[in-house]
Amino acid sequence: MRQKIVAGNWKMHKTLEESQALITEIRGLVRDEYRGQGKVVIAPTFLSLPSAVRLVEGTEISISAQNAHYEDHGAFTGEISVPMLKSIGVQYAIIGHSERRQYFGETNTVLAAKAKSVIRHGLTVMFCVGETLEQRESKQYFRVIEEQVSQGLFGLDRKEFSHVVIAYEPVWAIGTGLTASPEQAQEIHAYIRKLVAAQYTAEIADQTSILYGGSVKPENATSIFMQPDIDGGLIGGAALKARDFIDIVKAMR
Ligand code: PGA
Repeated sequence: MRQKIVAGNWKMHKTLEESQALITEIRGLVRDEYRGQGKVVIAPTFLSLPSAVRLVEGTEISISAQNAHYEDHGAFTGEISVPMLKSIGVQYAIIGHSERRQYFGETNTVLAAKAKSVIRHGLTVMFCVGETLEQRESKQYFRVIEEQVSQGLFGLDRKEFSHVVIAYEPVWAIGTGLTASPEQAQEIHAYIRKLVAAQYTAEIADQTSILYGGSVKPENATSIFMQPDIDGGLIGGAALKARDFIDIVKAMR
């Protein structure tokens, strides 16, 4: 059975103190209100990770980094490696978010190395793919998604691939208030699953969690998560409000 996941990507928001307050609030709401079997993941900034891990100890919530370097250590000023994340109890890492691709020039080749490192150290990678508005309008989106998935992930062997979660996040829907319709998202999710089946096996494809991201809110979460190939969401803006986030978590059944 593939796992349902709702993950909150806090991006560059919240000081240490604010992060602790928000995690504490989310933790209480998950405990009191969420009865499903899905997984809840929170990705605060690097600075807040150690305290976030401590705050969710003994709960159903896991903590994710938003990025990681592909080398274990070395002269890479300002970077954080996967063994460092692992040493404090981080279990997931988001790799390939469109903001990393767009503003920090991360290519499929770099992202493939990052994904490999995350998995080599026993963490789960949440690997993001998604087309820009221009690519959608010029009907290149299938090709773009195929390239991102295959170049980013298909260097992994079958065993490694079992630690991959894919997030489809159309760039035109991130932080814009525009959401892909449930049908548009389902179309791409089914396509990604087909690519995984062709590269690995139908069984592996069936076990792979594929999340949707891009302006998911409490109002649209249920209709998106109801789609057969959508296994939850990667949430940006709405993850910064405990009430909205828990309502999205509750839409995961
Ligand atoms: P959004 O961001 O929910 O604010 O659109 C999603 C993301 O970037 O992961």
